[in-house]
Amino acid sequence: MSIAEKFVSMEYGPAPEDSKEAVAWLERHGRRFGLFIDGAWQAPATGEYFDTLDPSNGEKLAGIAQGGAADVDAAVRAARGAAAKWRALTPHVRARYLYALARLVQKHSRLLAVLETMDNGKPIRESRDIDIPLVARHFYYHAGWAQLLQQEFPDHEPCGVVGQIIPWNFPLLMLAWKIAPALATGNTVVLKPAEFTPLTALLFAELCQEAGLPAGVVNIITGDGTTGEALVKHPDVDKIAFTGSTEVGRAIRSATAGSHKRLSLELGGKSPFIIFEDADLDSAVEGLVDGIWFNQGQVCCAGSRLLMQESIAETLISKIQQRMSTLRIGPPLDKAIDIGAIVARVQLDRIERMVAQGVADGATCWQPEVVLPARGFYYPPTLLSNVHPTSIVAQQEIFGPVLAAMTFRTPREAVELANNTVYGLASCVWSENISVALHVAAQIKAGVVWVNCTNLFDAACGFGGYRESGYGREGGKEGLLEYMEPKWFKQAARLLAAHSTAVPQVNETPDSSAPAIDRTVKLYIGGKQARPDSGYSMEVRSSDGRLLGEAPLGNHKDIRNAVEAARKAEGWAKATAHNRAQVLYYCAENLAQRRNEIASRLSAIVGEKQANREVDLSIERIFSYASWADKFDGAVHNPPFRNIAIAMNEAIGTVGVICPSDSPLLGFLSLVLPLLAVGNTVIAVPSEKYPLITGDLYQLFDTSDLPGGVVNIVTGYVSQLLKTIAEHDDVDAIWCYGDEATVASAKAMSVGNLKQVWTNEGRIIDWFDPKIAEGRWFLEHATQVKNIWVPYGE
Ligand code: NAI
Repeated sequence: MSIAEKFVSMEYGPAPEDSKEAVAWLERHGRRFGLFIDGAWQAPATGEYFDTLDPSNGEKLAGIAQGGAADVDAAVRAARGAAAKWRALTPHVRARYLYALARLVQKHSRLLAVLETMDNGKPIRESRDIDIPLVARHFYYHAGWAQLLQQEFPDHEPCGVVGQIIPWNFPLLMLAWKIAPALATGNTVVLKPAEFTPLTALLFAELCQEAGLPAGVVNIITGDGTTGEALVKHPDVDKIAFTGSTEVGRAIRSATAGSHKRLSLELGGKSPFIIFEDADLDSAVEGLVDGIWFNQGQVCCAGSRLLMQESIAETLISKIQQRMSTLRIGPPLDKAIDIGAIVARVQLDRIERMVAQGVADGATCWQPEVVLPARGFYYPPTLLSNVHPTSIVAQQEIFGPVLAAMTFRTPREAVELANNTVYGLASCVWSENISVALHVAAQIKAGVVWVNCTNLFDAACGFGGYRESGYGREGGKEGLLEYMEPKWFKQAARLLAAHSTAVPQVNETPDSSAPAIDRTVKLYIGGKQARPDSGYSMEVRSSDGRLLGEAPLGNHKDIRNAVEAARKAEGWAKATAHNRAQVLYYCAENLAQRRNEIASRLSAIVGEKQANREVDLSIERIFSYASWADKFDGAVHNPPFRNIAIAMNEAIGTVGVICPSDSPLLGFLSLVLPLLAVGNTVIAVPSEKYPLITGDLYQLFDTSDLPGGVVNIVTGYVSQLLKTIAEHDDVDAIWCYGDEATVASAKAMSVGNLKQVWTNEGRIIDWFDPKIAEGRWFLEHATQVKNIWVPYGE
């Protein structure tokens, strides 16, 4: 074609990126890779290898070791062996290692980008301009945290050995999101890359060697799901961090339930992309290109559900179709390609199957006329319109370049549709009216909301989900906290049996001169005293055997009523923080007035000394959380582009609380108050040992203007009530403070809707020590961070 002809057609010519270096690197390794354990390469004990393919043409790139249980064990032992020295290094020395890794990523960025594209199929434009620069940014950012660690987190220590399992959609970026914070906080790591895309992780292992990282600090074991499973189940791993499908996330939750491994899960999504009629439609369409066609739509936070205001639907659809027709699909190493290859045959099959199902459900399918390359795994950009909100393509993650479009009329309807999903990872809101956009953003249940922008990420801004999109955050300060624990926590002794047979914390004989008060309390649901559904009650006796009264035996129906009441009271989250503080201060005032009376009753079970201390400290604790209510603020991040990210601490929602059996009053309040301070509603099961405290508590709440339903109290046997709470889909989180067996069952039974579970891990908590039993640690677990990104500039 002559230059003149080119000017007429304006067609792109081929612009392939050179793969010579990457091929040479593969050849240098004989196109076969072992496992990276204790700073050296070794063959897998299984003796097995599997192929990793180039999805753009289906050709084999290299043979990859299939790590087995023995290999996982060797890697964990190496990480454990390196742990003490690594955490004992000064923060500055650890910062230097992270800094060196950041520099090396930059130095080898071209090779890393090409290799990533060859292994994953994503356009080189994306791996070169997005993935790899963000990898470097993560290591720089966390080098900074390593340096500041002692100043900023003097009371924290690393979890220990961390098992990390990552998916194939952003192979090196997910590695960076996991390894950088883990190392910065002094943990050692065993990381398993996805079986489709292990190559850049193996190259990263070489960078660790080049950086002189001490052997065993980072171990990379390749393999499939069984390798991941062995890592999850290894008894000497202290924490698991997982990114991948919700299904595997559930399996990991179950597998770790009986252990004390900390867990963070970054799972799937079905993120809404909302466009209001006053949006800048052309910008919104460009946003959509990034939202759903970026990385072939294989993005957990892809804007895969388009919600458009009805008045603009027709115009918008035609603009989208026009833009889709200009997307270039083809070999991902070509620098002028927008859409590359799907990662693997199995993923392509899945996309085809789901789109066919969507069409069978009534959706209209539109694809531009494109010629797909003859070899490799490709799928054209696809628009499904007339999608019913209940259709599989509106509800399930397709993980492909497929957009499902629906309409709405009012902002309220947009929010309802947006939240009509089990997921809650991300969302986009497009409107030129910033007040409407922020109002909608606040109501969407998702960890990230991009206002008039899409798919922006930065190491300083936490990323992670609500609901079945998982829990925990990656990036930012909150991401760092996932890899640390308060120092006192690991040292606290274990509780052998909390419920029914617990030993009082203050070891003294109960005051037998205190009169036995025969009381019968009721349940407290929706701000009213309620009889239990069962009609039965349980006797409550003092530790010297006297009958103190009777407490209702709540059952599953009472819990369900309590959950319903708690849901209805969610307006509490919208009350101003000042208002919540006022209600809590009022509680303190009322408790102070009834101090002697409550202490005298409590003394029959815990003795006079503890009873007095409990009531006095309870008053103080209420004051403390009333003080926190309007001070536990979020943050405003400044990512390195013209955008601010507003990190808001939001209430989790409705939380079930299993209260500790010791310190019936102080333990109850120490858990319930931080939840209330930040706007959650609560269903609490009080101490089995002294459920009569309920009577004092509902009098307290009733007289302090706490809206009905914000706190609900159901007495009864923990083992029975916990099951209903854990399995209830309308409960967002459980705080379970009990013995090891109770804690394990709370985790195991909460798998259904993947609710967040926070426990004492069966440890004894000194509720009388405010340094331990109140403050930020509790508030951090009572909230989840939502990052709202807002661009600025002309
Ligand atoms: P996956 O969840 O099976 O794989 C992710 C990682 O987990 C891989 O490293 C895999 O080897 C490992 N794994 C698998 N089973 C495991 C187990 N029982 N225990 C421990 N580790 C295990 O995801 P897959 O099969 O690659 O993709 C299936 C679907 O999952 C996709 O179509 C997509 O919908 C979703 N997905 C979501 C991702 C996200 O970022 N949210 C990432 C990848 C997939």
